[in-house]
Amino acid sequence: MARRLKLDRAVVNNWVKSGYVPSRWAMEIERLTEGQIAAVEVLNEANARKPIRVKSRGEEDSLFGPTFVGSDIMNPYAPPKRIKSFHPPQRALLGPGPSEINPRVMAAMGLPAIGYLDPAFVEMMEDLKALLRYAFQTKNALTFPISGPGSVGMEYCFVNMVAPGDTVIVMRNGVFGGRMIENVERCGAKPVVVEDEWGEPCDPNKLEDALKKHPEARVVAFVHAETSTGVESDAKTLIEVAHKYDALTIMDAVTSLGGSPVLVDEWQCDAVYSASQKCLSCTPGLSPVTFSDRVVDYVKSRKDKIHSWFMDMNLLLGYWGSTTRTYHHTAPTNSLYALHEALLILKEEGIENAWARHQRHHTALKAGLEAMGLKYLVKEGYRLPQMNAILIPEPLLEHEAEVRKRLLNEFNLEIGAGLGPLAGKIWRIGIMGYSCNSQNVMLCLSALGSVLYDMGYPIHVGDAESAAHQAYAQMHAKAAQQKKRQPAAA
Ligand SMILES: Cc1ncc(COP(=O)(O)O)c(C=O)c1O
Repeated sequence: MARRLKLDRAVVNNWVKSGYVPSRWAMEIERLTEGQIAAVEVLNEANARKPIRVKSRGEEDSLFGPTFVGSDIMNPYAPPKRIKSFHPPQRALLGPGPSEINPRVMAAMGLPAIGYLDPAFVEMMEDLKALLRYAFQTKNALTFPISGPGSVGMEYCFVNMVAPGDTVIVMRNGVFGGRMIENVERCGAKPVVVEDEWGEPCDPNKLEDALKKHPEARVVAFVHAETSTGVESDAKTLIEVAHKYDALTIMDAVTSLGGSPVLVDEWQCDAVYSASQKCLSCTPGLSPVTFSDRVVDYVKSRKDKIHSWFMDMNLLLGYWGSTTRTYHHTAPTNSLYALHEALLILKEEGIENAWARHQRHHTALKAGLEAMGLKYLVKEGYRLPQMNAILIPEPLLEHEAEVRKRLLNEFNLEIGAGLGPLAGKIWRIGIMGYSCNSQNVMLCLSALGSVLYDMGYPIHVGDAESAAHQAYAQMHAKAAQQKKRQPAAA
């Protein structure tokens, strides 16, 4: 079809003009153009021309009498308004997560439901585990997705690895280190907190001092990619230090997985958890985890009963382990199809290419933001490409919420606010997974520039876009030169 018709932008524009593009066409366009024209782009353009109106089935549609007897039946449960099907607006998601979702992943989620012990499903589970091992860069046998968001993955690690009375060192340099402390306390253990400034990475020297002072510490926990500040910590060194003192490690890779290197085997991580809705760009509600044999052996050898039935690793192994498949809980089958598709997309792109893509768009975004006179919270060299924490300039401090509101209302663009002590002081611009592309970078710079200018902030409209274009051009030229040199070197 693509060859005969020569499926290019002009042809697609003609279809879009009619304002009617079924989603399967849009997906087909993306497939035939090998991603040059994204399905979501086509659907958005068609929708902008002729907004899609979808109705709930009306009372008169039924052959067998009214299916919905007006608002009366809802009166005891809700204010007197007609509750209809929900149609969310289409947003550009450039906050701290969730990120936008590839239409392929949404389509996978809509496939027929089957049982969680169906042989076809069980086969898919094995592929899913292998794809997760690739994402985590590990051969760990126990690598699977927990049914629950990242917070459940976090809790899963703590309840299995921390027993009452244990000492656990928690590195805190943002919101999520704080949540780890809560977890330790709720396990009946004693947290030893090693503090770093918000926006600074966790300091391995401070960790070593804490381990010297507390040789009884069994576990060290830290956040690899602190979403609340946009800082990356040196996971490899932190783990080396912990192992020197014979402590196991728990690493939070919620925001790093898929966006920047998470090398579980090379860094010898013990327990790692992540989440589906950040750089993996899947629907929220799943938490990929991976455990070394050392952790599995420790949990198996525990004499006390693990505090949570649902999270007991020994029980869950009966469903996700390598040999048995017995009922533990009803797995969220369709969400797991979606994660499988999201990971397949990551594999097709190649994980190194995904890391490079996040870096490339971060470089362009940074060039644009700096051209507007905005500054980063985190020092160069420690910044996460996928999570850009920007200091709000003094004159805008009082109006920061208005900026975000206008971006949402006028440009359908979501960016994040600061948390905890950084609330009202930073904006968090996430370019994660499927959201991480040049259209979003340019949209963000234009929209932010336009709103800030309108609010009287002294910028030259267009400077940011120009700086970003220049950054892209320089990166393209450098890549082209490298490509040219490659055959000669071979
Ligand atoms: C670093 C980090 N850890 C844990 C979580 C919790 O994940 P979830 O919101 O999926 O429960 C988040 C969420 O943003 C996070 O950024």
